[in-house]
Amino acid sequence: PQDMGRLCRDAVDEVRASYPDADIRLRLTDELHGRWDGSRLSQLLANLLTNAVRYGTGPIVVEAAGHDGQVILTVSNEGNPIPGRALPTLFDPLTRAGPADRRGTAAGMGLGLFICRCIASAHQGTIEVASSETGTSFTVRLPRSPA
Ligand SMILES: Nc1ncnc2c1ncn2[C@@H]1O[C@H](COP(=O)(O)OP(=O)(O)O)[C@@H](O)[C@H]1O
Ligand SMILES: [Mg+2]
Repeated sequence: PQDMGRLCRDAVDEVRASYPDADIRLRLTDELHGRWDGSRLSQLLANLLTNAVRYGTGPIVVEAAGHDGQVILTVSNEGNPIPGRALPTLFDPLTRAGPADRRGTAAGMGLGLFICRCIASAHQGTIEVASSETGTSFTVRLPRSPA
């Protein structure tokens, strides 16, 4: 048994500790309890939040909302859109979409979103991305009680 509100608050606190200048806004609505692997969901949230800090601009909005049998998480940021050609493979391992100057040794490995997809699927959930001039948003849908 887990409280998605607490998982989100803890993940936001952790990322704020590493990135004190980040403007992260948390919106929690409705009933957010479910049966999930709490440490894996913390990892998913940390990956999405760290990406938003590193690749986005402007405020980051984290939302968790309960809808009957599922909980929906979204992490959104402004900034340059992810190129459309990168979207179909964005959740594949070792895939990165940014400009070449981010591909040096200090760059990520391109595994974060792959791990997020593994964690969502292991909970019988889904993860999707939408990216346009108005911003980038990742949506995770999780059944409250995966089989
Ligand atoms: N919130 C975001 N805004 C813009 N681009 C993003 C965002 N999240 C991920 N990306 C793009 O997706 C790529 C893959 O992300 P990820 O799998 O976490 O790998 P990594 O962070 O190691 O590059 C990133 O390199 C970046 O180009
Ligand atoms: Mg990453």
